[in-house]
Amino acid sequence: LWTPAQIIEDQIARVREQVGDRHVLLGLSGGVDSSVVAALLHKAIGDQLTCVFVDNGLLRKAEGDQVMETFARHMGVKVIRVDAEDLFLDKLKGEADPEAKRKIIGNTFIDVFDDEASKIEGVDFLAQGTIYPDVIESAAAKTGKAHVIKSHHNVGGLPETMKLTLVEPLRELFKDEVRKLGVELGLPYDMVYRHPFPGPGLGVRILGEVKKEYADILREADAIFIEELHRADWYHKTSQAFAVFLPVCSVGVVGDARRYEWVIALRAVETIDFMTARWAHLPYELLEKVSNRIINEITGVSRVTYDVSSKPPATIEWE
Ligand code: XMP
Repeated sequence: LWTPAQIIEDQIARVREQVGDRHVLLGLSGGVDSSVVAALLHKAIGDQLTCVFVDNGLLRKAEGDQVMETFARHMGVKVIRVDAEDLFLDKLKGEADPEAKRKIIGNTFIDVFDDEASKIEGVDFLAQGTIYPDVIESAAAKTGKAHVIKSHHNVGGLPETMKLTLVEPLRELFKDEVRKLGVELGLPYDMVYRHPFPGPGLGVRILGEVKKEYADILREADAIFIEELHRADWYHKTSQAFAVFLPVCSVGVVGDARRYEWVIALRAVETIDFMTARWAHLPYELLEKVSNRIINEITGVSRVTYDVSSKPPATIEWE
């Protein structure tokens, strides 16, 4: 019989057996999978686990602080936070091509992670939040069956130079099972049931060149959208919802003054498998509220649009 408590018990025993008294490193992203691995390993081996959390400056509003709050403060997990915003923004400077941006973000992540990991002594294992669909997907990729539309970069690429053995306690589980484990392990519900967030983060939601000014505006707009979705009880009726920064200027008017400012697009979809998706039919009142708040509360935005494209042919993300 499958129960979350049983799986956890099993995995704890397995991990202890594999690891012994040696040390494990984990790239913590704040996403569901790596979060559940962190909680599970902490329970299994306590201080033999060290997590590295890379803040790439492309996270959602307050995300970095929340990760530290949950793991470091509440659970007492050893987490090293690396503030790498300047480095990421510097590497991205002048690059507008979506795939090139993904590669830069992925490679910079590996550099930063590698660098940080090399400072920690006596690590023998690298933990990863690989789940069953990832195993299937990479097997398909190897046989050439996967149709690669976008290169997906995720946390935890094993640095080639490090001779580490993998610890992958979620390898046999599906997402909904991982979520149940997370709740059982005491992770906050909102963290466990949060919408998926791409590895390259806001880097692929700022169209074209990424700039700090754009990221700051987008973080605020996205936070307003998500807050209103929660308030209206629509967050969990959508599979993914977010704001996108469009680097085009549009005319607006405040009082007697004309403004010439940025545009924010809102995207919300319903999907089972993320391979196809329907745009979410959000109530007009909700969209109106979000639009008003974004334009009134954020300096630099004069217009908000709602994305009514389905996948296919459009993708969920804009880049
Ligand atoms: P698309 O845009 O391809 O997105 O319809 C499908 C799902 O994948 C997520 N996504 C990514 N996840 N790295 C990731 O880890 C990426 O580069 C990436 N691109 C898209 C997207 O958020 C959606 O859930």
